[in-house]
Amino acid sequence: MIHLGFLASHGGSNVQAIIDAIKKGRLDAEACAVISNNSGAKVLERAKSEGVPHYHVSAKTAGSPEAADDEIISIFKKHGVDTIVLAGYMKILGEAVIKAFAGRVLNIHPALLPKYGGKGMYGKYVHEAVLAAGEKESGPTVHTVDEKYDKGRILAQKRVPVLPDDTSETLAERVLKEEHKIYADTLQKISTGEIVL
Ligand code: GRF
Repeated sequence: MIHLGFLASHGGSNVQAIIDAIKKGRLDAEACAVISNNSGAKVLERAKSEGVPHYHVSAKTAGSPEAADDEIISIFKKHGVDTIVLAGYMKILGEAVIKAFAGRVLNIHPALLPKYGGKGMYGKYVHEAVLAAGEKESGPTVHTVDEKYDKGRILAQKRVPVLPDDTSETLAERVLKEEHKIYADTLQKISTGEIVL
C-alpha cells in the first residue's frame, strides 16, 4: 500500500477521484494529507468532508518559498506520506520537496506529453493549443516530476479523440473524465509494483 500526499490549488476533482477509488477498493492506498496553496480551494473542503488531514501552506503563510517547502516536507513526513500526487497544483514545486521525495512525485497533465507541456501550458491554454494545432487526438499524461516540470518519466497516457466542433471546454471535459480513471489506475500499478518508481 502506498501513502499519498496531495498538492492541489483548486477544485481537486482528481483528488476526489483517487479518494473514491480507495474507498471502492480499486486502489490500495491511503490518502494521508492534502495541502493547498490556496485557502479557498474546494479541494480543502473535499478533504475535510473525507476526513483527510488538510493544510493551507503558501510562501505567504510560511514567510518564504523555502519555508513553505520545509513545511510541506514536514507535514507529509509527519503523516507518513511516501508518494506525492500533484493534482492541479499551480505552483512550481521547490527542489527541496522534489529531493525529499526523489522519484516519487507524480503529476497529471491534460495533454499527450511531450507535446503541449512546459511554460504557460496549463488549464485552458493546453486545450486551446491542441485545438489550434488541429490535433486529432489528445488525452492525459501521468508522469514523474523532477526539477523541470512536464519533463519527467511518462508513466501512462490515454488517448481521446478531438472532435471537429470541440471548444477548449468540451475537450477539457473529455480529457478530465479520463484523468479521473488513469490517475487512480496508475497509482494502483505503483502500489502493486507493476510500475516501479
Ligand atoms: C487537471 O486538468 C489536471 O490535468 C491539471 O489541472 C487540472 C486539475 O483539475 N494539472 P482538478 O483540480 O483535479 O479538478
